[in-house]
Amino acid sequence: MASKAPLIVVEDLRVKVAEKEVLKGLSLTINAGETHVLLGMNGSGKSTLAYAIMGHPNYTVTGGKVFFEGEDLLAMEPDERARKGVFLAFQHPISVPGVSVANFLRTAYQARFHGAVVKATDKSGGKDTGFSVMEFQKKLMGAMKELHIDTTLATRYLNEGFSGGEKKQMEILQLAMLQPKFAMLDETDSGLDVDKLATVGAGANAMAKKHNMGILIITHYKRMLNYVPPTHAHLLLDGKVAVSAGPELADEIDQHGYDVAKKKYAKAG
Ligand SMILES: Nc1ncnc2c1ncn2[C@@H]1O[C@H](COP(=O)(O)OP(=O)(O)OP(=O)(O)O)[C@@H](O)[C@H]1O
Ligand SMILES: [Mg+2]
Repeated sequence: MASKAPLIVVEDLRVKVAEKEVLKGLSLTINAGETHVLLGMNGSGKSTLAYAIMGHPNYTVTGGKVFFEGEDLLAMEPDERARKGVFLAFQHPISVPGVSVANFLRTAYQARFHGAVVKATDKSGGKDTGFSVMEFQKKLMGAMKELHIDTTLATRYLNEGFSGGEKKQMEILQLAMLQPKFAMLDETDSGLDVDKLATVGAGANAMAKKHNMGILIITHYKRMLNYVPPTHAHLLLDGKVAVSAGPELADEIDQHGYDVAKKKYAKAG
């Protein structure tokens, strides 16, 4: 039953941040295997949508529903959402002093695939019998090499002193290791140099295809979309999805800006 439902359905979602209503009835449906791009001006609420889907406590859902494979996502705790395969690559990744990249990823990996909830500081390898530290390490090194990430970063504290680009690479490394069903990439392209963008973009696209992921890309620029081509594009305006179209919408906005797109679609509809 659940597998027949769309991957994610956002229905008339209303979200408040610090007493301000940012999302005012946003609706969006994404199926497995589709790549959607969400466009919108600075401060329009794109990251707010991503945070609300993940269950960030600062983002209060005041109305609407979100279903993940037919299940009520908003009724789940944030960690349960992640375990089920909902993922957000943060626009501004945070540092986690005291927790190495490898341990952080191992904890998330065990939670996702072995149902184990262990602390990132626990060096025992966890209690879960199905988990092999050796195998995990091998996978981690393999993913880092594939994504052209310096493997010495694995032993450093997560994002502590990392460059902007290295932080974004860590987000994609998490995507590679956790193989979510639904991944939101919030401005993952910003801060990456052209070579890293190519590797990260191609890597993300290959992973998405291989695992039939549903992807929501949030970006201001076309360049990421060259590597991860969208099947759908949406324009977020006044707290709602004002326009849903094919990938040509991203081209139009890129070429002519938001004002032209707003006017055109206001006339059309
Ligand atoms: N913690 C917060 N406290 C106060 N206001 C917030 C907070 N988080 C978000 N907002 C406000 O909510 C609005 C939407 O922010 P959001 O980060 O979702 O925008 P965005 O579309 O992702 O923008 P950008 O393209 O610049 O990343 C903005 O006006 C922002 O200032
Ligand atoms: Mg944002």
